[in-house]
Amino acid sequence: MTKNKNNQTIWGTRIQSKTSTIFQKLGNSIETDKRLYKQDLAGSIAHVEMLFKQKIISFKIKNKIIYGLNKIEKEIKNKKFEFNKKYEDIHMNIEKRLFQIIGEDAGYIHTARSRNDQVITDFKIWIKSATKEINFELEKVIKSTLKIAEKNIYTIMPGFTHLKNAQAISFAHYLMAYIEMFKRDKKRFLNNLDNLNENPLGVAALTGTSFNIDRNYTSKKLGFKKPTNNSIDTVSDRDFVLDFLYCVSICSMHISRIAEELIIWNSDAFNLINLSDKIVTGSSIMPQKKNPDLLEFLRGKSGSAYGNLFSMLTILKGLPLSYFKDLQDDKEIVFKSNDTLISSLKILDEVLKNISPNKKKMLELAETGYITATDLADYLVKNQSMSFRMAYKKTSEIVNLAEKKKKRLSELKIDELRNIIPKLTNDVLKVFDLKNSINSKKSYGGTSFENVKRMILKYKKDK
Ligand code: ARG
Repeated sequence: MTKNKNNQTIWGTRIQSKTSTIFQKLGNSIETDKRLYKQDLAGSIAHVEMLFKQKIISFKIKNKIIYGLNKIEKEIKNKKFEFNKKYEDIHMNIEKRLFQIIGEDAGYIHTARSRNDQVITDFKIWIKSATKEINFELEKVIKSTLKIAEKNIYTIMPGFTHLKNAQAISFAHYLMAYIEMFKRDKKRFLNNLDNLNENPLGVAALTGTSFNIDRNYTSKKLGFKKPTNNSIDTVSDRDFVLDFLYCVSICSMHISRIAEELIIWNSDAFNLINLSDKIVTGSSIMPQKKNPDLLEFLRGKSGSAYGNLFSMLTILKGLPLSYFKDLQDDKEIVFKSNDTLISSLKILDEVLKNISPNKKKMLELAETGYITATDLADYLVKNQSMSFRMAYKKTSEIVNLAEKKKKRLSELKIDELRNIIPKLTNDVLKVFDLKNSINSKKSYGGTSFENVKRMILKYKKDK
């Protein structure tokens, strides 16, 4: 067999004419999937060890193959390996090189497997480690957010609905809202592990194999929990890719939301937070400008994350079973989404370390917009035996009065209030105090300073 010795493709034994050069150029995936080389080598080593254990290949051949694969790993690490587009993908590039290193015995490596199961084995292992890395970066962001929250338990600001002042909150409570999102993101990524932990290796092209292989053995060797159940589903399934892309999309959306809020709050109109010079950029024409470019970068990146999710959904729509070349694009899509998310999380962490609240402005804003009106209504329910709807109506009248007199609620005199609710006592005035308002929200999950402190403590202890 001289066929594999020269630069012929491995599958080129039956195909007589050369593949169209344009397709050879465009249809290969080596530039993308060479990133899977470590996983591919690990998968191959586990595979040949299993073949030997099952007496499908000899001890000598197993050792020869493993020797060759280890050599290839060193070559790739030392940038001595020549990736060739002609051999399409990482699997063929490695196999081809194995032939050059150990000769015809390399031909035993592909017993009882196909690139179809090989590629998803590599890919699942890769996504598992990407999941770990993302969660590591998410944890850093959570810690940085927690640090600002800790310093701002008593920083008062208005909470918004419809971007209109709604009720008073602790700035820390607002920040902790994002911690909840990032914690859910972590959990969402981890939830994917169940599916990622099913080992595809051994289903071969689509039907399984007549060789007496041991898929539990390779599962264990490669860190999977169990082998997949159905060979046809296994080579067709890219649900785990969608799961990953969906998680990336949601996480990017959270990043985009916090970025947008910080942009609004940093605007000259709001002026609620300051960005250090480290995280702003200038304008080429307006010398005075300090622009929140980093935040805008973060806000924009959710676009490509959604795009990638939709690309994959579209590739899979209506695709019959089992393997098709269409599926090859999955890796480029995932790598792009992953890399962008990792850099976004790193940038967000940098941003969080470089923002500070403009406490004075936050308080000033909280004092406008009658944001203690709900506190007054609640007071009336508790102290004047009114139904909430009646209290709401009476409070609206009081807000109207304040608006007419161009006063804050806290500036109204008790007699003015009594014109609307005659039996009011002096202690009503405390409901207009912002600290009181915040501290009264003691229900579980509410913004009271005590609640916020407790949550920060709890999360600081979390690993
Ligand atoms: N590079 C291919 C991919 O990523 C590997 C599987 C090729 N299988 C095949 N039957 N052509 O999808």
